[in-house]
Amino acid sequence: MGAPRSPCALGTSLLCCLLAAVLAQRVKVQHEVTGYVGQEVTLPCNFINTSREIKVSQVTWVKETSGRKQNVAVYHPDHGPSYPMEKGSGRIRFWAQSLQDATLVIGPLRMSDEGTYTCEFATYPLGNEDGITRLTILAKPTNFAEAVEVKAGNAEVPVASCTSSNGKPAAQITWQSGLNGNFTTSEVTNTNGTVTVTSHYMMVPTKAANDQRIFCHVEQKTLAQPESLPVTLSILYPPEVSILGYDDNWYLSREEAVLTCSAMGNPPPTNITWTTSSGSLPKTVAIKGDRLVVRNVDASVNTTFICHAINRVGRVSSEQNIFVREKPNMEGAGTTGGIIGGLIAAIVALAVVATGILICRQQQRNRMEREEDDLEGPPAYKPPPPGLMAEEREQVPTPAEADSIPLKTPYFEPSATDDFFGGVIPPSRREDAPQYHELPTMEEREPVSHTGQSLEDSYLDQVNPIYDALSFAATEEEAAVAALATDKAFIMSRAMYV
Ligand SMILES: *[C@@H]1O[C@H](CO)[C@@H](O)[C@H](O)[C@H]1NC(C)=O
Ligand SMILES: *[C@@H]1O[C@H](CO)[C@@H](O)[C@H](O)[C@H]1NC(C)=O
Repeated sequence: MGAPRSPCALGTSLLCCLLAAVLAQRVKVQHEVTGYVGQEVTLPCNFINTSREIKVSQVTWVKETSGRKQNVAVYHPDHGPSYPMEKGSGRIRFWAQSLQDATLVIGPLRMSDEGTYTCEFATYPLGNEDGITRLTILAKPTNFAEAVEVKAGNAEVPVASCTSSNGKPAAQITWQSGLNGNFTTSEVTNTNGTVTVTSHYMMVPTKAANDQRIFCHVEQKTLAQPESLPVTLSILYPPEVSILGYDDNWYLSREEAVLTCSAMGNPPPTNITWTTSSGSLPKTVAIKGDRLVVRNVDASVNTTFICHAINRVGRVSSEQNIFVREKPNMEGAGTTGGIIGGLIAAIVALAVVATGILICRQQQRNRMEREEDDLEGPPAYKPPPPGLMAEEREQVPTPAEADSIPLKTPYFEPSATDDFFGGVIPPSRREDAPQYHELPTMEEREPVSHTGQSLEDSYLDQVNPIYDALSFAATEEEAAVAALATDKAFIMSRAMYV
């Protein structure tokens, strides 16, 4: 039941809306454009002319940064393009020189290019029409991580730092580590609008954390993927010194006795020195780096040796009391000698037994072979003489060549093959015979011998060890060839039999 609306008012507001829409749409721009420092950016701007009545006389780009307006680029058809803000830099240019397309290209970009850009068309009769583009500049940060050298201690301190410099927007830094620590992060905004983010990894610096690797993860909009920077921690600690090699068996006129000074630390101790409890070293002692060598043990080394190790963090010593005996300490040596002697005896005994077994087996095998030969009588399946076998193997064709190369043994004269196959080989085959795939089928094979094995099998049993030996060092390909050779040998034996 509202008041009846005047159709005229309705019409006017509709017209207003339409008009506004048309006006707003005539200049086409992108409202937000993002560019990257060092790269190029395009600010599109087009004038969509809706009527022949509207004439464009000039296009202008105006930049506004913190309230200050500057003319960036002007195009007039008679006077050409002009770039008042940066004359001759070449960083700013019209994409096309046209009264319809005022698209602007800026690059390489600087942080200072950020701002609001207005694209203006001077028209008649409507006056100036414009579109506004906000240009945001992003900057890729430079990331760097390093260990902070600290002395081992009980208080939580920074042990690593990670910095993401001059990025926009600010980078996010996190740490990945198996150590029990946490981190603090701070940001500084630079005058050009970029941000430098610094993060410190904090922990109680234990000796065990030295040389451990942790990772600084940097995430930022301009990075295609988070950057992961490894840091190897460096926790400084004084040398840990110990003297090794004293066997409690230094006796007068012993030939050589050696002590070694083991010193670990961060940084590694570079300077290791030896002294005795009385001060100077005996004359019979020679120092070779971390080793103290006594050529001939005498009463002068009946003392306490001290090893000193120094690094940046501290100087640490370790002592070893030496007791020089009149006679060797037989107890310790005796047991040690006994154990070693026993071990050697056991090894020798094992070797003897193994050799014996091997010899026995070989003899047994030889005997069995001889008996078999006697039993079967002629025609015996003799493997070809070793010389022939070796020659065969050398001449064995690769599987690809196998079909085309005739075999070379006398058993494979075409006539012999004909006989063997009862003359049923077609003439075409006869020419390139023999072929490997013309092996006899199962039915054609020899009857099973009295041993329960086919004659072929027993033959192969004899041949196989040779091929095994041959293929032992062979590649797979050679092994395949060796298998072919076995087939060939098998055919040979059959031919011989016939
Ligand atoms: C982490 O930092 C806070 C203070 O910044 C500290 O109180 C805390 O003990 C630290 N360590 C761990 C493991 O949270
Ligand atoms: C070494 O010194 C000990 C006492 O410190 C002594 O009992 C021992 O006889 C000495 N050995 C020699 C060979 O002088």
